[in-house]
Amino acid sequence: MIGLYDRLSRPLRRALDPEDAHALAIKALRYMPLVKAATDADELAVRAFGLRFPNPVGLAAGFDKNAQVPDALLRLGFGFVEVGTITPRPQAGNPKPRLFRLESDQGVINRLGFNNDGAAVVHMRLAKRRNAGGIVGVNIGANRDSTDRIEDYVRLIETFAAVASYFTVNVSSPNTPGLRELQQAKVLDDLLARVLDAREQVRPRAGLKPVLLKIAPDLTLADLDDVVGVARKRRVDGMIVGNTTTTRPGSLREAQPAREQGGLSGRPLFRLSTRVLAETFVRAESAFPLIAAGGIDSGATAIAKIKAGATLLELYTGLVYRGIGVVTEIEEDLTAALKRGHRNSLASMVGSDAAAITADSWPA
Ligand SMILES: Cc1cc2nc3c(=O)[nH]c(=O)nc-3n(C[C@H](O)[C@H](O)[C@H](O)COP(=O)(O)O)c2cc1C
Repeated sequence: MIGLYDRLSRPLRRALDPEDAHALAIKALRYMPLVKAATDADELAVRAFGLRFPNPVGLAAGFDKNAQVPDALLRLGFGFVEVGTITPRPQAGNPKPRLFRLESDQGVINRLGFNNDGAAVVHMRLAKRRNAGGIVGVNIGANRDSTDRIEDYVRLIETFAAVASYFTVNVSSPNTPGLRELQQAKVLDDLLARVLDAREQVRPRAGLKPVLLKIAPDLTLADLDDVVGVARKRRVDGMIVGNTTTTRPGSLREAQPAREQGGLSGRPLFRLSTRVLAETFVRAESAFPLIAAGGIDSGATAIAKIKAGATLLELYTGLVYRGIGVVTEIEEDLTAALKRGHRNSLASMVGSDAAAITADSWPA
């Protein structure tokens, strides 16, 4: 049924403006009959940050920015869904067009700029589904015109603590001017200290909520030393590696859209993001688990991320090109890989290639 929907909708999706296609997908998910998801094989379950993920394949931030359809997405097979980025006040984002497909590269460039309904509306939606179960993370960011960006993150922790399974502190979107500067050691240290303090403040009423840090794949290795150092010192619960890239790999074929300003995602991001993941893994020294994002669109790319250091996976652009069937395809391939290797969990594969990857030449 899902496969059929995918096949029928793909030509339509291509014909539509990318933002209209996205709005249509959200609408379809809203009105989709809620069939129960198939139960995941036990060996695909992952324990991390004190949570049990039924399988490691999550939906990355940006698809369900406003938490309109997390339960439909969980039912379609995702092991977890990250909603957002949410900012305290609603925001329109950048002028359109701001989303571009690089069809033959299987990539996307976006400069949406945190368009979202704002904390109050999104909180109401999440409060309504609060007892529905499933892991729904909340990705938080600052308003573009905020005068105190750190305060924005603190307020969002307070607002969402009771309804979030975990938080992602997004300091890596390229589309809010200056946001990535929050990755500089001193500012990051201040930001994480205040965010983690807010998390402690709300703990008695909301329970202990994991806080993850999502970084850009464009950090230099010296910056990455600092970022991982600060993350370890402040004891964040994990990191997501990573967001979209402002770089344009030489391999891109779609020369015209490649010139658009914004963050590149999908297949052309795979090599860079996998390298930065491995570099993060060797620096984190198992102090916390990592979530991989960047070009995951098959069982092979998922396994490569796990071997580079990922405990959990997230994808977005793979969904655009491969359809929702990609989620169960990855799960089946992971199960087959476990069987072949006579393993009963993915944990023993995590980071097995990290050292070798960091010894390679830098992806061009
Ligand atoms: C259209 C679009 C919107 C996105 N919006 C967000 C966002 O709001 N917050 C965020 O942290 N990441 C956002 N991302 C980045 C994704 O979460 C992910 O980190 C990145 O796209 C790499 O994964 P992928 O190659 O599987 O797409 C967005 C990506 C795309 C393509």
